[in-house]
Amino acid sequence: MPATEILIPEADIQSRLTELAAEINAVQPDGPVHVVMILKGAIIFGVDLARALERNTTLGFLTASSYGEGTQSTGRVEIDARHLGDIEGRNVLLIDDILDTGHTFSKTLDILGDKRPATLRTCVLMDKPERREVDIHADHVGFTIENHFVVGYGLDCDEAYRTLPDIRIYAPE
Ligand code: IMP
Ligand code: MG
Repeated sequence: MPATEILIPEADIQSRLTELAAEINAVQPDGPVHVVMILKGAIIFGVDLARALERNTTLGFLTASSYGEGTQSTGRVEIDARHLGDIEGRNVLLIDDILDTGHTFSKTLDILGDKRPATLRTCVLMDKPERREVDIHADHVGFTIENHFVVGYGLDCDEAYRTLPDIRIYAPE
């Protein structure tokens, strides 16, 4: 299959998850956290991280589609915020799978910011800084990677590979 080269093994993801949870807990204000994940890519990382926080969390979801089919970003981002939950006055943690051009994150942050959360922090599993088109960063980053198209642990190529336990480089044959 075209996704055989493992970039980040399962064990590395799991140990980084524990570190990220500690980093986040050290700076998050006390009390409940509303964890918002961007579907579908962030679902597996987002749920694992939310549980690793071991604190009172509620969950919200956004759907963002920017890629359409294949591996090239279109630059257009469509957001569905109907399942976001209450944001105003709450401590919100936004989670995504990967920060690439930055269009998705920037548009999502605008939407959340407009709803006046008490605090808004961000976490991504991976960052591909080389590809950035919008000046934006995440507060917490699991792994900074080179410019590969990756799949697994939530990330897809045309909806395939999301349930792989590790992160792999997608190389079309
Ligand atoms: P951005 O708007 O270009 O930053 O795109 C972010 C979204 O594109 C992520 O949430 C992913 O869903 C998707 N994406 C970006 N890079 C990859 C990749 O290497 N593999 C799979 N999906 C990706
Ligand atoms: Mg995504």
